[in-house]
Amino acid sequence: PLGAPLAGRSALVTSGPTHEAIDPVRYIANRSSGKQGHAIARALSGLGARTTLVTGPTQLPDPTGMEVIHIESAQQMLAACETALPADIAVCAAAVADWRVASQSDRKIKKTGSDGAGAGIPKLELTPNPDILASLSQRGNDRPGLVVGFAAETEDVIRQATEKRARKACDWIVANDVSPQSGTFGGAENTVHVIDAQGVDSWARMDKSDVAQRLAERIADYFAGGLET
Ligand code: C5P
Repeated sequence: PLGAPLAGRSALVTSGPTHEAIDPVRYIANRSSGKQGHAIARALSGLGARTTLVTGPTQLPDPTGMEVIHIESAQQMLAACETALPADIAVCAAAVADWRVASQSDRKIKKTGSDGAGAGIPKLELTPNPDILASLSQRGNDRPGLVVGFAAETEDVIRQATEKRARKACDWIVANDVSPQSGTFGGAENTVHVIDAQGVDSWARMDKSDVAQRLAERIADYFAGGLET
């Protein structure tokens, strides 16, 4: 239907960074703003999709008209995504931490020992986090019909993103150049290439909200039968 081509479809979008606790007061994080992921959730919802946004901590207001699930860690993000299945569409735009602290301390790690002497510098052992995009892409019966991932690269953008698409087994990869001179990280604009089984679609530099709108329209075209994965 005109204006709501995704009516009757459901969408799951991940956005923002994750926070990986070291102890009750400290964490490991990254500089993801959540702007691109939140904009994609708004655009899909705007085209009529019943949308669930699973987001790490950001400065952004919750978009209205959709379910918003707030999580902190990668493990919580994966669990929240699983509760949002089945879904027709999954777009993984979150900057998920690759590693978490292997054994989180349930008490604040002290710099002074009980005798008042230095307790020593803690050594943080890390362990890999689940890959949410790969895990959604490789599910059985309840695999979303279209799984879209992002690839932020600083060099050889298209080749690396094409390899990432194969490795993760997602349908589309939206590749963007995040080299420092690109201004993409935290900025308002993005230059992206959409890679699917057919090849590479390179878009002009535009606002992140326009990238989101165009991506949502491409997704709607796909479900309307105009595109293959
Ligand atoms: O491997 P890399 O982090 O570059 O892949 C980026 C893509 O994978 C993004 O779509 C990101 O949301 C997703 N991802 C994920 N879970 C991870 C790591 C990345 O969903 N643990």
